[in-house]
Amino acid sequence: MVKKIFLSALAASLAFVAPASGVEQRVDSVLSMMSLREKIGQLNQLNTRGDKQECLDIVAAGEVGSIINENHPDVVRRLQKTAVEKSRLGIPLIFGRDVIHGYHTIFPIPLGQAATWNPELVGRGARIAAVEATHDGIRWTFSPMVDVSRDARWGRIAESAGEDPLLNEVMGLALVRGYQGSALSSPTSMAACAKHFCGYGAAEGGRDYNTTWIPEPLLRDVYLKPFKALAKAGVATFMTSFNDINGTPSTGNPFLLRKVLRDEWGFDGVVVSDWDAITEMIAHRVCADKDQAAAMAVNAGTDIDMEGDAYLRCLPELVESGKVDIAVIDNAVRNVLRLKFRLGLFDNPYIGLDSEDKSYAPAHLEAARKMVGESAVLIKNDGILPLAPSVRRIAVVGPMADAAHDQCGTWCLDLEKSHSVTPLAALRERFGRDAVVYAPGLAYSRDRSTAGFKAAIEAARKADVVLFFAGEEAVLSGEAHCLADVVLQGRQSQLLEELALTGTPVVTVLMAGRPLAIRDEVGNSNAVIYSFHPGTMAGPGLVDVITGDVNPSGHLPVTLPLMAGQMPLYYAQKSTGRPAQEIVHIDDIELEAVQSSTGCTSYYLDAGKAPYLPFGYGLSYTTFGYGPVELSSTEIPADGKLIAACTVTNTGSRTGATVAQLYVSDCVASLTRPVKELKAFRKIELAPGESRRLEFELSVSDLGFHQADGSYIVEPGQMNLWIAPDSSTSAPAAAFTITGNRP
Ligand code: GLC
Repeated sequence: MVKKIFLSALAASLAFVAPASGVEQRVDSVLSMMSLREKIGQLNQLNTRGDKQECLDIVAAGEVGSIINENHPDVVRRLQKTAVEKSRLGIPLIFGRDVIHGYHTIFPIPLGQAATWNPELVGRGARIAAVEATHDGIRWTFSPMVDVSRDARWGRIAESAGEDPLLNEVMGLALVRGYQGSALSSPTSMAACAKHFCGYGAAEGGRDYNTTWIPEPLLRDVYLKPFKALAKAGVATFMTSFNDINGTPSTGNPFLLRKVLRDEWGFDGVVVSDWDAITEMIAHRVCADKDQAAAMAVNAGTDIDMEGDAYLRCLPELVESGKVDIAVIDNAVRNVLRLKFRLGLFDNPYIGLDSEDKSYAPAHLEAARKMVGESAVLIKNDGILPLAPSVRRIAVVGPMADAAHDQCGTWCLDLEKSHSVTPLAALRERFGRDAVVYAPGLAYSRDRSTAGFKAAIEAARKADVVLFFAGEEAVLSGEAHCLADVVLQGRQSQLLEELALTGTPVVTVLMAGRPLAIRDEVGNSNAVIYSFHPGTMAGPGLVDVITGDVNPSGHLPVTLPLMAGQMPLYYAQKSTGRPAQEIVHIDDIELEAVQSSTGCTSYYLDAGKAPYLPFGYGLSYTTFGYGPVELSSTEIPADGKLIAACTVTNTGSRTGATVAQLYVSDCVASLTRPVKELKAFRKIELAPGESRRLEFELSVSDLGFHQADGSYIVEPGQMNLWIAPDSSTSAPAAAFTITGNRP
């Protein structure tokens, strides 16, 4: 009885302040009633073990603010009911989960979503994920990951939008809008989480969790850029990264969490640590014990301790002994309470739980299928694609042809593979079982047995075409799954070689979580489609492309290397003082040649300098012509605007889409600058023979860079500009000058 009176009093006290706009007053009102332990409880995130009594007791004691990885609606409801009705103040819980590229309907991995260069489509996928996940009570997703990733060895490149800051920014914004919807308080909205803040993708050697050293100009021009955009756009939460950055772990880094995120960007959301990352500062050897780690993290600006038990265990004593100021705790608690009010949890703690379950709705599957088609990157095509109507017998080979689990890639916590439609199933559906002969040749991507080769070769010999589905099992990319060499595992390449020797045309479809070195495999194929782990609707989406129902329009969000030794490898490289001109390959060097015989410039004797395929590359079943760039002016002041225009024409015989990419280059600057930087892009569809004049408006203020002291500068001088279908363009640049005096 007392509890009910108290709760109604609490509700009344919260109600007296102004409605939604009075969130701060409501936050302060609740804060004023909280004990120290209750405050610290809000900063504790528990990885639930179901609603076992131990978990219910901690919740009832008000010692948990959020729960990670509980998504059974009955358990969510019971835990929430315990928090609201049994804890002293009845503060509701937030339930969070890694909904990274779909919840039940699995979309392509984020790297594949980036390959669409279509933020509207990507945003729709996130909206669908939110609708499906909020039904189970999930109101916080730990997505989008916007870590610029320039090393194919790093397993988490799969979760990123690739190597470019702008592409990560645009895709990250689309995902945030999709997850958070029109209002965070909507039953189908989830708080999004910009992660991993910051510099995680710069892990030395592409080895996960490894150290990073990122000078401030690079940090601000590249790694912080997408995060700043998400903070300004209202992303609800941030997650700290595991890595140390310039010697300080992000989780205990006040430069990142207070100076940049709060003071410069004005972020007022929640910062959650990555999993146990507070305690890991002991392993980083910057903290001697949990007490020191808890103090360092909360003082630096990490609000919530994800499954580390450091805050709950250490902060009470640290505050009581004066080592941590209660004001620091209050500030963190305010951020958490503010998020809960914004999510509408105080008004309805069970919000979302009563919504209709729309998992796998036809519209959801259709959206996933469309994204598979748009994320497919046509790497090579000698004309075998789209398949001719005369094709009667198809040999389906390879370990990824019928891999319901592995086609979905990393981070699919709620994948139900019985819903996956594989390429084999879709081909049988499309062409009939008699027309499709299935001989995988290998059981899984790492399989080293050649026992299945004979049947595969025989099937190939009798077929009109071989469709070879290869790539990586899902577990070979993602967190903690890095590769020192980025090649196809097992005997896949050998199998492809033998398929090619049959003389039957081979179409290779690669499903992978990272860029792979595939020059030889492309050489043994008549056509190659790169499909970054495409998800639930891999089969129908890829068959749409293979048959020509969909004209491929994917473009690479990452550079494809010749070999791992080239890493880190990305288009926005620096020129160096000795840019490579002539390449002398290692096999062409004369015996006893003198040292200077190879030119003394910047390249590898065994790999040259160029990648195998450049960032932004992608073919179509039609062709496109890009006209010369026209500029609104060739002299623009630093505070001016520039219009760059280009006419793009579909010069082929089929309707198709291309991605016009606008790159700039700063010809001379006070710091070395990338040889090209992507500043805008637009995906357009054109009918055969259709031309369209594209206009891009650039603010010259966006063409500057950061200096060593963190200040941003736009320098006068000549700039070059291209509008092209990929980053390797050698078309004549349009030149303009930024006028003004060099400061
Ligand atoms: C993991 C990942 C992070 C994820 C979190 C919760 O270790 O680094 O991306 O959101 O833990 O699962």
